[in-house]
Amino acid sequence: MARRSLTIAIDGPAGAGKSTSAQDLAQALGLRYIDTGAMYRGVAWAAVQEGLAPDNRSQVRKILSRTRLTLSDEKRPRLFVNGVDASLAIRTPQVSQAASRLATVPEVRTFLVRAQRVLARGGGVVMEGRDIGTVVLPNADLKFFLDASVEERARRRWKELRAKGKKDSLRSIASAIRERDLRDRTRAVSPLCASPDAVVLDTTHNSRVQVKRLLLDWVRRKTSRAR
Ligand code: DC
Repeated sequence: MARRSLTIAIDGPAGAGKSTSAQDLAQALGLRYIDTGAMYRGVAWAAVQEGLAPDNRSQVRKILSRTRLTLSDEKRPRLFVNGVDASLAIRTPQVSQAASRLATVPEVRTFLVRAQRVLARGGGVVMEGRDIGTVVLPNADLKFFLDASVEERARRRWKELRAKGKKDSLRSIASAIRERDLRDRTRAVSPLCASPDAVVLDTTHNSRVQVKRLLLDWVRRKTSRAR
C-alpha cells in the first residue's frame, strides 16, 4: 500500500494531542491534514455571530443553508467561513462550548459528515475529529484513538493559553474540558468513542515526539504488511 494514498483517522477527546499528532503525521507522510473540529467550530461561530442558539434545530438549519466552509491546507491550516478567515475567532472558549452544543444536532452532523467524506475522497488524508473512525471513514486504512487524563489535557491547554498571554485558571480549564467531554461522549448521535478496530493510545505520559514516533511505527507496520 502506497503511503501517499493512505486514509488515516484520528479521534479522541479535546486536548489529547490529536491536532498536533495529526499534523505531524500528515507532514511526515506528505498527506493532507483535515481538522473536522474546525468545521463544527466554523458553523458554531456563524451561529454565535448571528445570535442564534447553537443547539436549536430550526435556527441551526438556517445557518447551514448559508454557511460555506473552506479549509486551506497550508503549513498553518486555516478555516474560512463565507470567505472570512475565522481561524483565530473559532478558538475562543465561547465558540468551543457552542461547537460542542451544535455537534449534538443531527442535521449538522449529516451536513458536515457529507462534506468530510468529499474531502477524503481518493485518500491521501489524515482526518482528525470525534467520529472519523466510527462514522465518517469507517473503512480508513488506519484508525487511532488518542486519550489522556483530564488533568494532563487541562495542563496542556493551560500552557497553550499562557503562551498566548491568557490567564485562565487550571481549575476552570479542567472543568470546561469535563463538561465538553461529557457532552461529546453522551450525545445521542455519533458519541465520542473508539472504533473497535482503532489503535488506542494514552498520551498522558508521552511527549509530542514520542507520540509521532508511535504513530509512524503503526503506519510502517501497516504499509509493510500490505505490500
Ligand atoms: O476538536 P475540537 O475541540 O476543535 O472540536 C470542537 C467540537 O466539535 C467538539 O466539542 C466536538 C465537536 N466535534 C464533533 O462532534 N465531531 C467531530 N468529528 C469533530 C468535532
